[in-house]
Amino acid sequence: MVMGLFKKSSKAKTEKKASWKILIVDDEPDVHAVTKLTLSNFEFDNKEAEFISAFSGEEARAVLQKESDIALVLLDVVMETDDAGLKVASFIREELDNHFIRIILRTGQPGQAPERSVITSYDINDYKDKTSLSSEKLFSVVYTGLRGYRDILDIEVARKKLENHREGLEKVIDSTTSLFKIRSLQDFASGLLVQIASILRADKSDSHPGNSFVVRKDKTQFKMLAGTGAYAPVDDDNVSFEPAVTELLNKACDQQVSILEGNCFVSYFKTNNAGENLIYIENILEINDLDKKLLELFSNNIAVAFDNLELNKEVFETQSEIIDTLGEVVESRSKEAANHVKRVSHLSRALALWAGLPQEQAQELFMASPMHDVGKVAIPDAVLLKPAKLTPDEWVIMKSHVNIGCEIFARSKRPTLKAASIVAGQHHEKFNGQGYPNGLAGEDIHIYGRIVALVDVFDALAHSRCYKEAWPIDKVLALLEEEKGQHFDPRLVELFIDNIEEVIKIMDDYPD
Ligand SMILES: [Fe+2]
Ligand SMILES: [Fe+2]
Repeated sequence: MVMGLFKKSSKAKTEKKASWKILIVDDEPDVHAVTKLTLSNFEFDNKEAEFISAFSGEEARAVLQKESDIALVLLDVVMETDDAGLKVASFIREELDNHFIRIILRTGQPGQAPERSVITSYDINDYKDKTSLSSEKLFSVVYTGLRGYRDILDIEVARKKLENHREGLEKVIDSTTSLFKIRSLQDFASGLLVQIASILRADKSDSHPGNSFVVRKDKTQFKMLAGTGAYAPVDDDNVSFEPAVTELLNKACDQQVSILEGNCFVSYFKTNNAGENLIYIENILEINDLDKKLLELFSNNIAVAFDNLELNKEVFETQSEIIDTLGEVVESRSKEAANHVKRVSHLSRALALWAGLPQEQAQELFMASPMHDVGKVAIPDAVLLKPAKLTPDEWVIMKSHVNIGCEIFARSKRPTLKAASIVAGQHHEKFNGQGYPNGLAGEDIHIYGRIVALVDVFDALAHSRCYKEAWPIDKVLALLEEEKGQHFDPRLVELFIDNIEEVIKIMDDYPD
């Protein structure tokens, strides 16, 4: 009979049918046999029982250490010592820190372990006198024990799921509160896909969002903001999808709701400024009520974030335009070409990136560099526009444009304007210390100042001005080489020349 029971459990193993692992701990072999016989047809929640036997406290500890998914222990008290069973119980709760396993104490000598004190001090779930444990009672004790175990596991799974949701939410909140760090809607949208997938996917270990995308509805077209898997990379803004996908997207838009169809999920959310947006994710098996609530919360957050990003973009672009215009006004007053400031701006950002500056700083310089000559607004026409060589006194006035420019922005707390102050104040310093206004040398000149110094001279020479013809590019590069370590930072000159093709492309994009 015992053999038969073992066969059953090994059969269950080969079929990989889920089972409840029950550990029988008793020094009397008969107890094992009887228990298995009594529970031979046992089934709870569509799972059979799988028995593991241990004949001493020590053996039980070894099994418990190896098998982490034991559901229930039928535990004898007196084995190799009077309290061997109790030691197993405290090993489970304290050393293994396992509070899931249900422990049913079975003792032949009740006096050896007083029920009340044992149940409380060893976190035992049930206490039975062996003699009073009929097969009917054993069945119900095990049944109740496993039900308790299952409920605890369910709670644990729910807790873990909540924990995942909480982490997902924290990430969303983090990402929405640090919006200034997000460079574009596309970045934000890709981050979003990863977050949503982590909430919805059954397999939490797979952080890759699979096939998914975020689109914005633009009249009848869908504008792709980000895509993953089969929908990445995005080359074309206006994409067309398989008819079934388009239909699903349109359906969500028409009804203004989120839809789960087959295993494809479309989340619809609307923002004040950015309009209608849709998140599409494949391979979603199910979405429960909690998921729905979280998605709703998520979508609201996203809507606000999208609006903020749109607003940010608007502010940024307005600011850029104002700065460019300001630069152009200054340059046109001094009869320089309007696109000079644009080229300085683009070339400065490119050189900053080649020099290894972080994206944020390169962007800051992009914004600030058009204002390098802003101090010229204060230089009288007689000096600024004098067609002849300047007298030493006029030269002093002319040179004052750097300090004036620096002061114009010096009081500002805005990073871009602070950068503009540096650029205006240092773009005539020279690497060898022979420049003005302060004769700073080497790295005492801010990297922004060194970058704009090079780019400004390069662009002025490479283009014609009212008083001179444009130099051929070879001649300009020869001068840069010559001034390496003199006027200009030698490392920047090298980087600039190494990337000359990109430089020429930027110049071609903004011709005079
Ligand atoms: Fe200048
Ligand atoms: Fe300039």
